[in-house]
Amino acid sequence: MIAVLGVSGSIAAYRAADLARDLMRAGFTVRVCLTDAAQKFVTPVLFETLTGQPCLTDTFEEPQTGRMAHIDWARQADVIVVAPATANTINRLAQGLADDMLTTIALAATCPLVVAPAMNPQMYASDQVRRSMETLASRAAMIVQPSEGDVACGEHGQGKLASNAEIATAVLGVVERGKILAGKHILITSGPTQEPIDDVRYLSNRSSGKMGAALARAAQILGARVTVVSGPVKVSYPLQAEVTRVQTADQMLEACLLLGKDADIIIGAAAVADYRPASHVAGKLRRSSEPISLELVPNPDVIASLSEAFPAAAVIGFAAEPNPELEVARAKLVRKGLVAIVANDVGNTAIGFDSDQNELILVTKVGEPISSGVQSKLSCALWLFERLVPLTAD
Ligand SMILES: Cc1cc2nc3c(=O)[nH]c(=O)nc-3n(C[C@H](O)[C@H](O)[C@H](O)COP(=O)(O)O)c2cc1C
Repeated sequence: MIAVLGVSGSIAAYRAADLARDLMRAGFTVRVCLTDAAQKFVTPVLFETLTGQPCLTDTFEEPQTGRMAHIDWARQADVIVVAPATANTINRLAQGLADDMLTTIALAATCPLVVAPAMNPQMYASDQVRRSMETLASRAAMIVQPSEGDVACGEHGQGKLASNAEIATAVLGVVERGKILAGKHILITSGPTQEPIDDVRYLSNRSSGKMGAALARAAQILGARVTVVSGPVKVSYPLQAEVTRVQTADQMLEACLLLGKDADIIIGAAAVADYRPASHVAGKLRRSSEPISLELVPNPDVIASLSEAFPAAAVIGFAAEPNPELEVARAKLVRKGLVAIVANDVGNTAIGFDSDQNELILVTKVGEPISSGVQSKLSCALWLFERLVPLTAD
């Protein structure tokens, strides 16, 4: 396992030497990257001697001629740890800047990121640093909170780099988390469906696909292979996911039947239209002064059909129900052959459709429903998978 240890320009940079050794003892090959400011406190020679690996400081350094080190290191890393992380580096990571070797590696990497801030308490309490940490956390970075105490500048407050034991534990935790769904194939339906009325109009709903995208990202963070079947949405799915775009409920079912054959877990997060127009008018329905009525016919129940078609898969349905009645939800669960139903209150504008936040209520075959609390959709998705894994173990 390879850990890239990024060290930025904090007085606590000297602590990174011991942290490198702790990570090596925990089984990592440690590759260190220093920012320019970090080199005012510690030197590459120190880390090269301790780790037996090259220590990078400059974006254009190439320990192996002809190989771009920032890409090699990013691809090969199992985890990136920035400790100590200065206010400056935290803000740059959050903005996605790539103006030195450390931020370039971090931006190019897909592995988990652990950030251990160390700074003056006023800097740590600043809106900018808070917002940047929230941004990083919303992308599933693990923040190892600094402790409270006397800091080097003589002030007292929160800003002292966490202990090396806490940082190493967080690193091991995120690496272990990446194995939870290793070897599993997860199929996720996402977004709305559009059911054509004529060539220019359709029936649809307000689903944005953000929850489906968060589920896809979370499943990847936990180590799964991810397939998404998505209705028309603007949201982006993780690049490593296999994404099939569809328009109607019929197309969604057809794609899922094709792609879900070896799925271990199927999650129906799409807001599939229950009905579609009985006929599709070619061209455009013309205006008239007379009322018209639209005849609707039921769409296939995508999630129930998938559960029937793939009995070996654990199938989980989403339900847009604010307060799921336990008995009703359980009856639905049994009727559709599901392992669990996840209810969410799409009527609440602070969460649900198009919001970046959500609150999930998980209803399973036994016990009381449990709530995720209001969190980012990615955190909700991680919360959900961590609870689904024991239910879906074969
Ligand atoms: C003696 C000294 C100690 C510093 N300690 C910290 C620190 O603990 N945390 C921090 O955010 N900045 C600290 N700074 C300021 C950073 O070094 C400065 O913001 C620098 O631009 C950070 O660059 P980097 O993030 O690329 O490493 C310190 C500066 C000096 C001169």
